[in-house]
Amino acid sequence: MDSDQVNGRAQGTGRRALLGAAVLGAGGAVLGLPGAARAAGTRTAGHGGRGLKSLPKPAVIGHRGASGYRPEHTFGSYELALDLGADIVEAGDLVPTKDGHLVCRHEPEIGGTTDVAAHPEFAGRRTTKVLDGVPTTGWFTEDFTLAELKTLRAVERIPANRPHNTLYDGRWEIPTFEEVLKWQDEQTRKRGRQVWIYPETKHPTYFRKLGLGLEERVAKLLRKYDKDGRNSPVILQSFEPSSIQRLNQLVDNPLVVLLSSAGSRPYDFVEANDPRTVADLVTPKGLREIAGYAQGIGPTLDLVIPKNADGTLAEPTTLVSDAHKVGLLLHPYTLRNENPFLPAEYRKGGAADAYGDVFGAFKRYFATGIDGVFTDNADTGVLARADFLKG
Ligand code: G3P
Ligand code: CA
Repeated sequence: MDSDQVNGRAQGTGRRALLGAAVLGAGGAVLGLPGAARAAGTRTAGHGGRGLKSLPKPAVIGHRGASGYRPEHTFGSYELALDLGADIVEAGDLVPTKDGHLVCRHEPEIGGTTDVAAHPEFAGRRTTKVLDGVPTTGWFTEDFTLAELKTLRAVERIPANRPHNTLYDGRWEIPTFEEVLKWQDEQTRKRGRQVWIYPETKHPTYFRKLGLGLEERVAKLLRKYDKDGRNSPVILQSFEPSSIQRLNQLVDNPLVVLLSSAGSRPYDFVEANDPRTVADLVTPKGLREIAGYAQGIGPTLDLVIPKNADGTLAEPTTLVSDAHKVGLLLHPYTLRNENPFLPAEYRKGGAADAYGDVFGAFKRYFATGIDGVFTDNADTGVLARADFLKG
């Protein structure tokens, strides 16, 4: 099945509303959502364009921007991703501030991605919290107002792997989601091509319990900027299926369920005493259920091609064909140039900041039929795709 067929099936508003209602039936009640919120035909079919069908296959998704070259989740990183040819920019991972704004950080804990530790006025905010069951120490976005966060500057998260990126430490502030939505339009005009973004709701259950629900805030902003249609150039993703179900009730955007390692449990499942793991979600039954409320999955690369005990790639699983059979596209994560992030046979030497044969790795993953991939190095991805399409 080609991607247009996959996407075409997955994008039908009627299908989505009907299947979404079937899957959500009980779930919607659990979530406390109005059952009729997404009745067929009550929302717009989109705001022009061809939606997902307009994206190249495989699509190159700039993971946190061009985070291989710039501190992640900054406008410097996002713009470079576009300069390097990314089809979509992951702008951004979304977390809330104390006063309810959405900002772009990979995690609510910002000790490793900002200069907050160098601000004596915030020393007293350092604390330990249990985040999705994991004790975590540092500074958390939900303890800062937006005005306070705007006094911070982004720094490189993994300087041992990316020492050159520290050149840019201190240059950019933390973007808000609203700034991203405006930036997207500016960049689309400036570049004469549609810029796509791929925001992710981070730790939605954790934040909802703090009174800082993410999905309504995301939906409100998408509506404000007329980007909540099924053809809008905004794909929404989350590791928590109930966050995607909630978004499915609020907006018509393409939706993607992220899938971590096979043995892991989405944190909303943990909270709801749902015993299923990701291994259950990637069965044909699990995928059929996801297809009732989402258009795609974002599996970790290991779910597409597992690794042998020595870290080399084994044989691909049937996940790509199983997902395509139920109309789901696949955007696995994350390919990176540096040795430690590559399958063992594609590493070159032992240096943690040296590049391995990432083109070899791209070739193996593209050969599985995936619809796109998150990468920290969009330029590498674009070249690898050209090689792949040449055959
Ligand atoms: O969203 C795809 C990928 O970004 C998921 O992993 O942890 O980098 O947000 P993470
Ligand atoms: Ca992400």
